[in-house]
Amino acid sequence: MKFTSRFLWACAFTGLVFATGNCSTLVQRLQTDLSPQLSQNNLISTTAPARWSDFDAPNPGVVVNVRTESDVVATVKFCTKQNIPFLAQNGGNGWATTFHLGKNGLLINLAALNQVTFNTNKTQVTIGGGSTVSNTINKAYAAGALVLTGNCNCVGALGATLGGGYGNLMGMYGFAVDNVLSLRVVTADGNIRTVTAQSDPDLFWALRGAGPNLGIVTSATLKSSPASTQDFQAWRGDLVFTEDKLEDVVQAIENLVLTPDTVIFLYLLADSTGTPSVVASPFQYKGNATTGRAAFASLYALGPVADTTEVVPYNEWNAGSDALCKRGDFKPGFAAGFQHMIPSTWRQIWDAYVAFQKLPGAASTGVLLEAYDLTKARSVPSSSSAFPNRNVRFNAFAIPWYTNSSLDAQAAEFGNNVRDLLRVTSGLPRNQTLQSIKKRYDPKDVFNQWFNIH
Ligand SMILES: Cc1cc2nc3c(=O)[nH]c(=O)nc-3n(C[C@H](O)[C@H](O)[C@H](O)COP(=O)(O)OP(=O)(O)OC[C@H]3O[C@@H](n4cnc5c(N)ncnc54)[C@H](O)[C@@H]3O)c2cc1C
Ligand SMILES: *[C@@H]1O[C@H](CO)[C@@H](O)[C@H](O)[C@H]1NC(C)=O
Ligand SMILES: *[C@@H]1O[C@H](CO)[C@@H](O)[C@H](O)[C@H]1NC(C)=O
Ligand SMILES: *[C@@H]1O[C@H](CO)[C@@H](O)[C@H](O)[C@H]1NC(C)=O
Ligand SMILES: *[C@@H]1O[C@H](CO)[C@@H](O)[C@H](O)[C@H]1NC(C)=O
Ligand SMILES: *[C@@H]1O[C@H](CO)[C@@H](O)[C@H](O)[C@H]1NC(C)=O
Repeated sequence: MKFTSRFLWACAFTGLVFATGNCSTLVQRLQTDLSPQLSQNNLISTTAPARWSDFDAPNPGVVVNVRTESDVVATVKFCTKQNIPFLAQNGGNGWATTFHLGKNGLLINLAALNQVTFNTNKTQVTIGGGSTVSNTINKAYAAGALVLTGNCNCVGALGATLGGGYGNLMGMYGFAVDNVLSLRVVTADGNIRTVTAQSDPDLFWALRGAGPNLGIVTSATLKSSPASTQDFQAWRGDLVFTEDKLEDVVQAIENLVLTPDTVIFLYLLADSTGTPSVVASPFQYKGNATTGRAAFASLYALGPVADTTEVVPYNEWNAGSDALCKRGDFKPGFAAGFQHMIPSTWRQIWDAYVAFQKLPGAASTGVLLEAYDLTKARSVPSSSSAFPNRNVRFNAFAIPWYTNSSLDAQAAEFGNNVRDLLRVTSGLPRNQTLQSIKKRYDPKDVFNQWFNIH
């Protein structure tokens, strides 16, 4: 016993894995024991797919580049049996600070599960667990259908969906979770299930909001809408303001009455010369210059110094945020949901932003805000899914973005400061229903890398 525990400790210490009285590297073990169970013999690697941020990244010892649902099943079974910590990666944009894989941990790279298929009348789409937003939109555009996705191309379509799913079309369709019809899920017991509201009501409820804590979704079927060329048009772009207009812009956004076809974003971001700027970014589905200017007249009245708005097709709606998708560097995220835009608060946020972004390597830092029409989202009962934030009017994110980790402490101070300024109420009450479903489907907490729910 003593020998075994010392041996185990030595294995762990050196990054090796204990197996039948033998230390061998995790990669070797997987090559001999897992690889023969996979669909191809070359799926195990030590190169992790890039992530959006290197801050608190999972840094796995080994990566399994799954190609089929059965590969996911075999890998989850293997990991749970051998007590190997694991994590699925889709778009790689998750900014949890709870990743703790390390060199004894295994990353399941879902990227090859990127199929996007439609039923014949295009009212339903099935999206693979590794499909990004851009892949999903490109395939939907080619197929002649609209799918509710996030507004950044690099995000995992289902990664976003499982956490609620905000996007340009949610004024019309509600949250992504509201559009989910069924999910194919590998659960902690290593089974693959088709989960619907009828088959497993509890798991269906919990996956839509807390998916990463409960299983790996290999694909999900959502509602979609058949679309003509006309249906693919949207008016969108950037209105740039001088910083003295900040309070007026904030007040105008507070006063805006959004309609289901409109969305408003506000960015505190550096322009191409590195100068901090105030950018309001309106979106209008099927809009044009006339209708867009009318819907956002209060912002136009403030005299933007630049206006890049134009009508673009579906596959270009997200082009404006591509710079935000850049991989790497340190970008801890600080998010807050709140009900009112207060000009004086935003002046304090601006000052904090300007102070941080002028530090060396921090010029790309930003504060982002988004607001959607919530009429459709609110028509769905809060109790219908584990996603709790249905009534939040504004969502904002402080993203300290820097190249040298020596700024970690200052970044945290800046992010926490902005979050505290924005938060009107802290922590929503925990719903014990979710904890009990988690206990039932994942009693040993093998899906333990995402924001904790127990
Ligand atoms: C630049 C940026 C833009 C964003 N824009 C939007 C937006 O427009 N709308 C929006 O709603 N959200 C948006 N988000 C938030 C985003 O949805 C979440 O960060 C989400 O968790 C990212 O998913 P991912 O697949 O890209 O990341 P990952 O890091 O790959 O995944 C995040 C977590 O979800 C789990 N996960 C991912 N896919 C699956 C799956 N198929 N089955 C089970 N678990 C899975 C992972 O294991 C991990 O725990 C944005 C985030 C960033 C950084
Ligand atoms: C340890 O395990 C590895 C991989 O399974 C094997 O190749 C090796 O021969 C084993 N060594 C001993 C001493 O048993
Ligand atoms: C689309 O097809 C499905 C079957 O795949 C059917 O149930 C549904 O009624 C059809 N919807 C429309 C609008 O034609
Ligand atoms: C803009 O859209 C409106 C409403 O659809 C339409 O009446 C108008 O002619 C369009 N204007 C232009 C310039 O396309
Ligand atoms: C938790 O969620 C369940 C399922 O929707 C609901 O029935 C219950 O009322 C909720 N409990 C609390 C305290 O919100
Ligand atoms: C990061 O910053 C520290 C402290 O200012 C400095 O010593 C170090 O050289 C920097 N590293 C890089 C890679 O620039």
